[in-house]
Amino acid sequence: MQLPKNFYWGGSVSSFQTEGAWDEGGKGLSSYDVRPTDPRFSDWKVGIDFYHRYKEDIALLREMGCNFYRFSIAWARVLPNGDGEPNEEGLQFYDNVIDELLKNGITPMICLYHFDTPYRLERDFNGFASRYTVECFAEYARLVMSRYGDRVKYWMTFNEQNLHSMGLIFSNSTTVPEGVDPTRFLYQVNHNVFIAHCKAVKVLREVAPDAKICGMIAATPNYPMSSSPEDINFAAHCNDYLNHFHANVFCQGEYPAYMTDYLTAHGWMPEFMDGDRELLKENTVDFLGFSYYRSNTVQAGNFDEPLPPAAVCGKNSVDNPHIEKNEWDWGIDPVGLRTLMHDLYYRHHKPLFILENGVGLREELPADGGLIQDDSRIAYHRAHIQEMKNAILKDGVDCMGYVTWAPIDILSSHCEMSKRYGFVFVNRGEKDLRDLKRVPKKSFYWIQKVFRSNGEELE
Ligand code: BG6
Repeated sequence: MQLPKNFYWGGSVSSFQTEGAWDEGGKGLSSYDVRPTDPRFSDWKVGIDFYHRYKEDIALLREMGCNFYRFSIAWARVLPNGDGEPNEEGLQFYDNVIDELLKNGITPMICLYHFDTPYRLERDFNGFASRYTVECFAEYARLVMSRYGDRVKYWMTFNEQNLHSMGLIFSNSTTVPEGVDPTRFLYQVNHNVFIAHCKAVKVLREVAPDAKICGMIAATPNYPMSSSPEDINFAAHCNDYLNHFHANVFCQGEYPAYMTDYLTAHGWMPEFMDGDRELLKENTVDFLGFSYYRSNTVQAGNFDEPLPPAAVCGKNSVDNPHIEKNEWDWGIDPVGLRTLMHDLYYRHHKPLFILENGVGLREELPADGGLIQDDSRIAYHRAHIQEMKNAILKDGVDCMGYVTWAPIDILSSHCEMSKRYGFVFVNRGEKDLRDLKRVPKKSFYWIQKVFRSNGEELE
């Protein structure tokens, strides 16, 4: 009972959390360059300086045993205004990254959109609220898919696309037009993002028909707090509205009835333009990508309330006494991964791909020059890989790979350097950039054994 020989092991990152070089190489301003960050944390200007150090980082990934790497393109680096003239220097940067990965035996995957829009599209068009941004996205997809499609055979459109139905910030569409119900607006923007996703899938089929593409969700399963039928029913609806809705659209090509009924009842059903229904239907995905960090637990609430489902779910979330948490209150639940994989696979009938998994920890270099003893990171990944293997080898789930989040430390999504996920330490603080030196942690040598043995050696 072994994992398939072609199983992918690797790492995953976004451009804005790694690259730095925010105003170099002809890059335009992105939404992140303009949005203020928490004064306690860093800013996005330098990241971990991947832009200048990508060769060193890719060499570390190879040494770690990675055969797969997912990164995102900074849209504003290749199209500084979001539309118009491409920036050749930016395009060349990603050529170099792809070539370097391939030279090191690492299969690249490109994510087109990891929460960052060229600022101009946010400022002048309110991000994905406008169909003009959708058209720009399709053109951007055409540009990079035509350029890299000969070498890149795995693609994804929007990182954790279900988040676009939970907050307007993800679509960079934060201005709610006067007199419009904010939740109605949220679902309209979310719908526009579905259309952008489908247009990109369509482009890939044309320009690189042998490449594969997924839709991706942030999968946070919701457990009922008790065996009361009300808790169980409520948790099932949280999972439908927050996780399965997007997976249904990606895989089956239409809004599921549970969602249209719910949205219509609240007056939140988005407007479909001519051709939208066909686009959804004709551009389903090859596989389903997801991130998994934690589970959530809920007690019965009421979805008739005129609040967006994420808020209803959030206000009825409770502590789960069976689950430990990290310092940031993220529950650690490896068995949840197995249950989730079973659920996603047998409900959506597409191969799965774990595209993010990991744990944030606070760490510093030991004064004596020894290794960072990140045993709790090792324990986290060991338990999650074990449960993934159970899902694959005992439950019959088809899964293409296990990709960790941020194998080399990066800034967290809130720009907090102290929340580290890596197997390699990056020597910088929140404000003090120090020397940005890369230093393998204890977990580096452990994950290397796991990756090199195709998941056999977990001790
Ligand atoms: C995912 C995002 O939701 O979680 C990443 O795709 C993010 O961008 C990761 O970094 C971990 O979250 P955080 O907030 O700890 O960085």
